[in-house]
Amino acid sequence: MSKKIAIFPGSFDPPTEGHLNIVKRGVEIFDEVVVAVSGSISKKYVFTPEERVALWKKLLKKVPGARVETFSGLLVDYVKRRGSKIILRGLRNVTDFEYEIQMATTNRKLNPKIETVFIMTEGTYSHIAASLIKEVVTMGGSAKGMVPPLVEKELRKRLQVPK
Ligand code: PNS
Repeated sequence: MSKKIAIFPGSFDPPTEGHLNIVKRGVEIFDEVVVAVSGSISKKYVFTPEERVALWKKLLKKVPGARVETFSGLLVDYVKRRGSKIILRGLRNVTDFEYEIQMATTNRKLNPKIETVFIMTEGTYSHIAASLIKEVVTMGGSAKGMVPPLVEKELRKRLQVPK
């Protein structure tokens, strides 16, 4: 039987405890989980795609079966190139659900051989949003428990917030 590779795509600016939890649970189900950092460049991002990949590399050191890459272009094309048929996404709430239906349906129209599979975000992490984390840290608050410590450290440096 062929290896079941799940692609976990996102902007991950920055990677959160919620994202990491999905990857850890994903490797229990699939043979391999590839975290696919979107290579699109926008001013709204704090970290470049390469910096986000570097953060993930550190986070995934203790997660066998998981790896990270960047991708550009259509997600379904990348998934196919990568020899996978599975897009993995985390689902926090109904707001996510509406956005995810649109994406999953569009991706299915683009390539019906690719399935999107969802893992419900752990309750402890369901309030976490990358945008809110950036706001909290910028305003001097703590993101402890929302992002891994090494991510918070890099975020503080980048946002020029003292410890
Ligand atoms: O973490 P995000 O920002 O919700 O991730 C969105 C992402 C990167 C998965 C989505 O924007 C995407 O797949 N972009 C690649 C371009 C593409 O395939 N667009 C059509 C998707 S329906």
